[in-house]
Amino acid sequence: MDWGMKNRMAQLIQSDGRCLFLPIDHGYFQGPTRKLEKPGETIKPLLPYCDAIFVTRGVLRSSVEPDSAKPTILRVSGGTSMVGKDLANEGITTSMEEAIRLNVNAVGISIFVGSDYERESLLNLSKLVDEGEKYGIPVMAVTAVGKELEKRDARYLALCCRIAAELGARVVKTYWCEGFEKITAGCPVPVVMAGGPQVDTERQVFDFVHDGIQKGAVGVNLGRNVWQNDFPVAMIRALRAIIHENATPNEAQEIYDSIKGGKRKSAKKKG
Ligand code: 5RP
Repeated sequence: MDWGMKNRMAQLIQSDGRCLFLPIDHGYFQGPTRKLEKPGETIKPLLPYCDAIFVTRGVLRSSVEPDSAKPTILRVSGGTSMVGKDLANEGITTSMEEAIRLNVNAVGISIFVGSDYERESLLNLSKLVDEGEKYGIPVMAVTAVGKELEKRDARYLALCCRIAAELGARVVKTYWCEGFEKITAGCPVPVVMAGGPQVDTERQVFDFVHDGIQKGAVGVNLGRNVWQNDFPVAMIRALRAIIHENATPNEAQEIYDSIKGGKRKSAKKKG
């Protein structure tokens, strides 16, 4: 691996081999998603606790301060919307030149395995990898399911993740599911977990994130279950403890409860 690629990857996946990515890219097909109406305000208190953000160029430029930004994964696929015909019909929306201009650490693209647009999305991934490798920019592939959330099972997601890795993705983002070890066992590059729509309790999130980490995920790319929570800072700090300090779900719950109840001080900011 060349120096630039190694350096970018090292800023994303930390020295303990783990990562906490904070995605705020949902607006690219969902519009002003609940609690992400003003992305700059949503992420302000959360930035100290994430390792990177996943964002489109529009929100990066308009809502993220360049002098206090975290490492950035740039969402470069899109062209569809919730009200359009098919979410799977994505193209590449942002050039590699633009990614370099924005000084990003990686680019991210969705693939839609099994959809009518499987071939296009996989070839888009391959082209992006060709471009990214030229400049030392890693590609994160997102195994997207569109509106078909029921597709999230180990057999299907293992297939998607392996294909993404075979085509050259340096990191794969997929959903947590029962039997998550089948996904990591068959995927030769680091796997991070997304959360999907907000679940009923924070404890469910702690349980699945902990389970996924035990089964080989290197971390999360978790959005709605963080910033749609009523106590997003408590949530992200509890998740950080699972990911970077090997906290159990019980310990994470205690951290969440104590921050929510105002009993725990905020972490000292670096520098
Ligand atoms: C949306 C995405 C998100 O980055 C991904 O789904 C993670 O967010 P969440 O945890 O809210 O599902 O790719 O297109």
